[in-house]
Amino acid sequence: MATIPRDFIELLVEKINIVDLIQTYLPLRKKSGSNYFACCPFHQEKSASFSVSEPKQFYYCFGCGAHGNAIDFVMQHHHLTFPEAIEMLAKLAGMSVPDQDPTLVKKEKRSSELSSLLAEVAAYYHATLTKSTKAMQYLRHRGITDTTQKQFLIGYAPPGWQQIVDRFGKTDADKQTLLEAGLIIKKEGGGYYDRFRDRIIFPIQNDRGKFIGFGGRIIDQGEPKYLNSPETPLFQKGHELYSLHVLRETAGTFDRLLLVEGYMDVIGLKENGIHYALATLGTATTPHHLKKLLRYTTHIVFCFDGDAAGRKAAERALSVILPLMQDHLQISFLFLPEGEDPDSLIRKEGKATFEARIAKASPLSHFFFQLIDETNHRNTMEERARYVAHARLALKPLPDGMLKDLLLDELSKRTRIDLATLKKDHITTTQQPAYKKTVLPFSKPMRLALTLLVQKPALAELVNTPLPTSSLPGWDFLTQLVKSIKQNISMTTGGLIESMRDHEASTLIAALAQETLVIPHHGFETEFSGALRQLLAKTQETVIQALLAKATQGELSEPEKQELATLITKKKS
Ligand code: UTP
Ligand code: MN
Repeated sequence: MATIPRDFIELLVEKINIVDLIQTYLPLRKKSGSNYFACCPFHQEKSASFSVSEPKQFYYCFGCGAHGNAIDFVMQHHHLTFPEAIEMLAKLAGMSVPDQDPTLVKKEKRSSELSSLLAEVAAYYHATLTKSTKAMQYLRHRGITDTTQKQFLIGYAPPGWQQIVDRFGKTDADKQTLLEAGLIIKKEGGGYYDRFRDRIIFPIQNDRGKFIGFGGRIIDQGEPKYLNSPETPLFQKGHELYSLHVLRETAGTFDRLLLVEGYMDVIGLKENGIHYALATLGTATTPHHLKKLLRYTTHIVFCFDGDAAGRKAAERALSVILPLMQDHLQISFLFLPEGEDPDSLIRKEGKATFEARIAKASPLSHFFFQLIDETNHRNTMEERARYVAHARLALKPLPDGMLKDLLLDELSKRTRIDLATLKKDHITTTQQPAYKKTVLPFSKPMRLALTLLVQKPALAELVNTPLPTSSLPGWDFLTQLVKSIKQNISMTTGGLIESMRDHEASTLIAALAQETLVIPHHGFETEFSGALRQLLAKTQETVIQALLAKATQGELSEPEKQELATLITKKKS
């Protein structure tokens, strides 16, 4: 994202009016002040909690917490990456995205060459399928219909060592491309051979539908059961999910998504009417997987086999989702009966029964305590202390919020230890959540000044720069905001969010943008000036105190003495 010039992005944000943009997606009703309201497009609701502010150029949902500027809106609505969103908005605004970094352009060109080749090979494998009685019989035996075969472009890699090398690797350059795409392997004595031989082929596409790799299943018995493409510049297993591109064709969000383990699980579920399943690709769940999924849904159902390995995998999934948790998300853990996987089970019991299982899946909170209960008793005092220690440690990565409070509440009930005691000391997270942690330590005038500045950036004009340095919490952030805004004093809240997108304080800015102020608009300037004056006075006071302390030790230099005198005079006036 660093490759699109910032000026261009900021210009684009200025040019697009968020109200006009969102109005093309949903009917906005004007309600109070400068805010428009609608039913939120990002979660199911009956009352209108979704608000769009024209002056701020910012949207915010009081129900689910979705928020952002015009770029965030199209990213969320169409599940786009940042550069894709820029591309789309630029088109709308009749602008063209300036040329990007040449090395990146070259890299992208190579990726798209590899991907085109993979698409050709996928088509070849798919065409080969119908020519193999053995492969067709196998699929039929597993209950995979022709429609599904076509939908997933299921194919067959014929036996023999040179099918792909001969067909797609005519020149050295072609062979190089095949090698880079992971389709052929270099022989020790020279020459190449095909990676996939005599296997059922599942092409893997990324979320944009580009072909990035293959999974190949052995037809009879043998090892390995599944052979996957190696990691290539295009294909990183820890980032990709099987069947994700299908979701992208649906605008808006999904009520829930089911994360399963295998290709055949996704296919079996789809075959039986469950079209919202995705699979990891033979790896454990990663934060990348989950962040991707959370672009499409606020409810993830993890599905695991009922055996010990499934348990372990669930435990790992829990540890990956915890730091990403937010109060509006719903996470469930579904454990299948031992010996079953989603594919085998849904074929036996059908969609309705399977979906009833999903509905009864363990919520995160249940699973959390179940895990703690497994390894900890709470009969004796010592056991209760250990139980608490264990639970608190496990809770540490969970960002502060309602869920954490509720889990602590439950912990208090379970161990009969006072909630206040449980909340004391080191329970705070390492993962900084958006709001509470960063804003609360600020003083009241600091909070007010920051909120006003974010909501009406033009107030920066009232600030005489350079600001003095100060150790007040939030001061550096305030200074930084003023500096950014002064570069473009007409910027809106949405523009400010954009200019600080990759900044560590971006979540804080978004949180400040959402604050409801009880001050009328015409009072903004007075309130802001007042808060700023208080902060400056406080800063001076800290300096005076420090100098005075030094003076009592008799350690003041001449310039320091002078500074102290000036400050004291200033304070008196
Ligand atoms: P499973 O062994 O559970 O297979 O692997 P499955 O999904 O039930 O497949 P069928 O029904 O026997 O055909 C689950 C997933 O783990 C990865 C694959 O992604 C597979 O879909 N896997 C498994 C491998 O990558 N390599 C293997 O050797 C086995
Ligand atoms: Mn299976």
